[in-house]
Amino acid sequence: MLEALLSQWSGETVIVRHDKASGAWIFVAVHSTRLGPAVGGTRMMAYPDLEAALRDALRLAEGMTFKFAAPGLQFGGGKAVIALPASLERSARAPLLRRYGTLLSQLGGLFRTGPDVGTTPADMDVIAETGAPYVFSRTLAAGGAGDPGPFTARGVLAGIEVVCDRLFGEQSVKGRRVLVQGAGDVGAKLIGYLGEAGAEVLFSEVDEGAIQHFRDELGVEYVPPEAVYTTECDVFAPCALGGVLNADTIPKLRCRAVAGSANNQLDQHEDAERLRSRGILYAPDYVINVGGVMAVLGLEVQGWQRDTAEQNVVDSVRKALTQIFESASAQGITTEAAARRIAEGHLDAPAK
Ligand code: PHE
Repeated sequence: MLEALLSQWSGETVIVRHDKASGAWIFVAVHSTRLGPAVGGTRMMAYPDLEAALRDALRLAEGMTFKFAAPGLQFGGGKAVIALPASLERSARAPLLRRYGTLLSQLGGLFRTGPDVGTTPADMDVIAETGAPYVFSRTLAAGGAGDPGPFTARGVLAGIEVVCDRLFGEQSVKGRRVLVQGAGDVGAKLIGYLGEAGAEVLFSEVDEGAIQHFRDELGVEYVPPEAVYTTECDVFAPCALGGVLNADTIPKLRCRAVAGSANNQLDQHEDAERLRSRGILYAPDYVINVGGVMAVLGLEVQGWQRDTAEQNVVDSVRKALTQIFESASAQGITTEAAARRIAEGHLDAPAK
């Protein structure tokens, strides 16, 4: 399993730890340190098997390399996956996170982390007890930048506006039908921002509590998971897990564009071409979802203020996506290929 996955991977290093006390497996994938120390979230969840967990870490780490390289940020790409056993006692969570923090200390800055699916700023506080100074996005109370979700969502909204401009000649989302898949940390905020901006918002979710909140309390139109790919909309915004754009789903889509926050939305490279040949405009995931990590690093490393952080995210997503859409159509390539060329340009440039 290791041999097959790692020999086909373009990254640098993988650290593997079996945490005996909890039964969890920890993978830290360092994809590239070409532009700086590797940074990426810590994803913590149960996987069908270990191979799926490692595969996720490798792909997500690669995505982080491109996420930083596209706008020319001086960080490398990495990701950590903590693959949980089928059941983990509540009381076992903090000790596991502290042992993981110790591992980050031992790595001495090779990999630095923040929250991702299954972890929160409160978890970052716990990891930082042993893993500081390599832990970003701790809570505001602990002196960190807090939740990256609102910044990510703000960037995605800016990206959807660029998409609307391209499709309809005006950037406003007012009256546009936008389907948000996943009302998690980013999706929930995006639903709010879209609603405030006058969009016709639909959402899909599997979590009963979130369904009740948005459908029953806030009156947002609910789309059951089995209808999410076939529901007509202007913009489909995947904000849950990866791999949702694939040979099975793309032929069914009834949207004009895909623009959402999930990492690794394309299942395979060819899926970018599949979208293009159906005339669906795709906002490359790592370009439109950079807001959270960009703002957190800006706040914690570069001393930005919160309002400038938000403005920088909006400006940067807007500029990058506009450039990518223009160069993709000028060169007759997919938007994914156009984004990759820009990122590779930064990765290939002589070291400063
Ligand atoms: N989950 C974030 C991403 O995929 C990772 C992150 C957030 C890293 C905040 C550091 C700080 O971009």
